[in-house]
Amino acid sequence: MTSVRKPLLGGNWKMHKVRAEAEEFCKALAAGISSAGGADVDVVLFPSSPLLHGVARSLEETAVEVGGQDVHPAAQGAHTGDTSVAQLVDAGCTWTLCGHSERRADHGETDEQVGAKAKAAVEGGLVPLICIGESQEERESGRTFEVLERQLNAALAPRPERFALAYEPVWAIGTGLTATPEMAQEAHAFLRELLADLLGPEVAAVKRILYGGSAKPENVGALSAQPDIDGFLVGGASLDPEKFLAMIEGCSSRA
Ligand code: PGA
Repeated sequence: MTSVRKPLLGGNWKMHKVRAEAEEFCKALAAGISSAGGADVDVVLFPSSPLLHGVARSLEETAVEVGGQDVHPAAQGAHTGDTSVAQLVDAGCTWTLCGHSERRADHGETDEQVGAKAKAAVEGGLVPLICIGESQEERESGRTFEVLERQLNAALAPRPERFALAYEPVWAIGTGLTATPEMAQEAHAFLRELLADLLGPEVAAVKRILYGGSAKPENVGALSAQPDIDGFLVGGASLDPEKFLAMIEGCSSRA
């Protein structure tokens, strides 16, 4: 199926890999990306902060982009352990994740903070990949859409000009449980409708909405066949270059 939205594949390495492992991964990715159909897919890696500069350098001959896993909304200051937009840009980043559920759970990030981060990212020249998704308890109590709407409204309240969205049901992240293609499509279609209400149908039609949560080579085909799934944010399966290349190939067939 041809879509106006070029597939986007993000590899979220979380707190994995040291420099030598990252370098080995980048070599394998650079060697295999053309034959995996990489020209038809936008690919971004999200390594931990200490790896960013090296990964960006290793991939500079390729079209693969690099992003931070989080960013602080302030330009600079006394924020121990945090990273600014300018520092990410300086390390070679063009993207940043905002509001990953592990940041929300481990660091108590609020919906409003996610919006502030997305706004700061755009103002500083980065594209935020805004992550939203319901917990198992929220899904079971029938509140999925309500939670998605609240998270999306807050993240987009400052009206960042550029962004992509990742729908990541928390119960599917790192658990081996994946939303069925129908479940994911239902959530993505809902999010696209919300985008149309907030930003207009033209904008909603071109915004990429990725699925995340135990995405892997085996399920990428069925999920990408859904009309509103425009790529993936991948954790576990992004650590192995062979699996990640297989996912690039899976996405490229949708282009
Ligand atoms: P997973 O992680 O692919 O390991 O489930 C996805 C994510 O957290 O972005």
